[in-house]
Amino acid sequence: MTTTNRRNFLKTATAAGAGMMIAPQISKASDSKQKQINGEVNIAFIGCGGRGRGHLKRAAMTEGVKITAFCDIDPEAVEKTQQVLKDQGHPEAEVYSDGEHAYLDMLKRDDIDGVLIATPWLWHTRMAVATMKAGKYVAVEVSAANTMEECWDLVNTSEETGMPCMILENVNYRRDVMAVMNMVKQGIFGEVVHARCGYRHSLLNVKFNRDLKFGEGSTGEARWRTQHSLKRNADVYPTHGLGPIAAMLDINRGNRFLYLTSTASKAVGIKDYIQEQGGEDHPSAKLPWKQGDIITSVIKTTNGETIIVTHDTNLPRPYSLNFHVAGTDGVTDFDYGNRRVHIEGKSEGHGWDEFQAWQDKYDHPLWKKYGEQANSSGHGGIDFFVTREFINSVKEQRQPVMDVYDAAAWSAVTPLSEASIAQNSAPQYFPDFTRGMWINRKPVIFE
Ligand SMILES: NC(=O)c1ccc[n+]([C@@H]2O[C@H](COP(=O)([O-])OP(=O)(O)OC[C@H]3O[C@@H](n4cnc5c(N)ncnc54)[C@H](O)[C@@H]3O)[C@@H](O)[C@H]2O)c1
Repeated sequence: MTTTNRRNFLKTATAAGAGMMIAPQISKASDSKQKQINGEVNIAFIGCGGRGRGHLKRAAMTEGVKITAFCDIDPEAVEKTQQVLKDQGHPEAEVYSDGEHAYLDMLKRDDIDGVLIATPWLWHTRMAVATMKAGKYVAVEVSAANTMEECWDLVNTSEETGMPCMILENVNYRRDVMAVMNMVKQGIFGEVVHARCGYRHSLLNVKFNRDLKFGEGSTGEARWRTQHSLKRNADVYPTHGLGPIAAMLDINRGNRFLYLTSTASKAVGIKDYIQEQGGEDHPSAKLPWKQGDIITSVIKTTNGETIIVTHDTNLPRPYSLNFHVAGTDGVTDFDYGNRRVHIEGKSEGHGWDEFQAWQDKYDHPLWKKYGEQANSSGHGGIDFFVTREFINSVKEQRQPVMDVYDAAAWSAVTPLSEASIAQNSAPQYFPDFTRGMWINRKPVIFE
């Protein structure tokens, strides 16, 4: 990273942060080609559990990436992470593991260009804010923020420091998602009117260890994730479904989320699971689990589309992100195990076409180019693209395709759904995190 590039970038962003009418250059890498960093970028990591190590491995496999430091407070995660580096032919990195705030010491280093955060949710925003304040690019796992204040903290800090903040939404890179995005942009569905998405994934065996432990003394995500089901009646994980639909509908770029209403079903799934696994009188079955088993939010956009977002993680079921897009010329469902398209005048009668032929026709250029390489990485290839995008944005000194305004607007569904549910489904308005800039911001191009 050259000092001149960083200085220029900061100058533009500081002016924007100070309220001057400079449209943030957030869509595609338009100006990036002139700003290529010569040589290596140094990427550091905070949180090297299952997810963080996956990103670190892919970064270690990428040409021009150096990893000299990472932070995790779990000795086992530290050991496994050093092993990943070794397996990829990298030297051992310096470890920051002395307490929950050890990351602040790591951020004092001046050899780090970008930091990728994959810690439990409650750490995301405070770590991202500290990273931007330390003058480094940041990428943060989903969801990026838990409260409305945190959403604003991300936006304000990014604008004030000039440091980009990427939300690591990998589903935006799913091959079928990108093909449908291509079809939407090329008008194949006509004018889009409605979409559906969600996170429908039975997480009972993630929220609880085999012995039904969670919280302190447990392992994996049960250490932290389960608390959110106990304490919050909200859609706590909206972005896997909403990120792709937001990109299709140009949210924050000529369109934006206006308001939502959310309704929660009763909360009985977790209790039922604990009683089945641990007996009627298991103490955890008596806890006041707050999160409704099925939470349904309806978002209205300024351009008039409606989006149904479902959160469903406490009942037994197959995995689904529930995708559906409908427009004046056609409709598609593109869920695992149920993918189909109907386009007026092209499909027979009122029937469905096989999805595959449409996917092949509208396959995204990224997949055509990197499909083989991507397929060998995690989650059916999508992780390859999301890690790559962060590294490229640091190398090219540009905003990532999923930026801080996306991080804030998508994550805001959690506090807004919570408020709506608490008020018998009353509508809740999204703040305009772009402060009016959504009107002029150009649609993003994934490349
Ligand atoms: N995009 C995806 O497909 C996807 C998949 C899995 C997880 N995630 C997200 O990634 C994040 C991490 O998930 P995971 O499954 O790896 O969880 P995990 O619990 O396995 O790992 C979290 C790691 O963070 C470390 N940690 C906790 N507090 C810390 C602190 N203060 N300082 C430094 N390290 C700390 C823990 O020791 C642990 O190693 C979550 O936000 C989760 O939602 C995303």
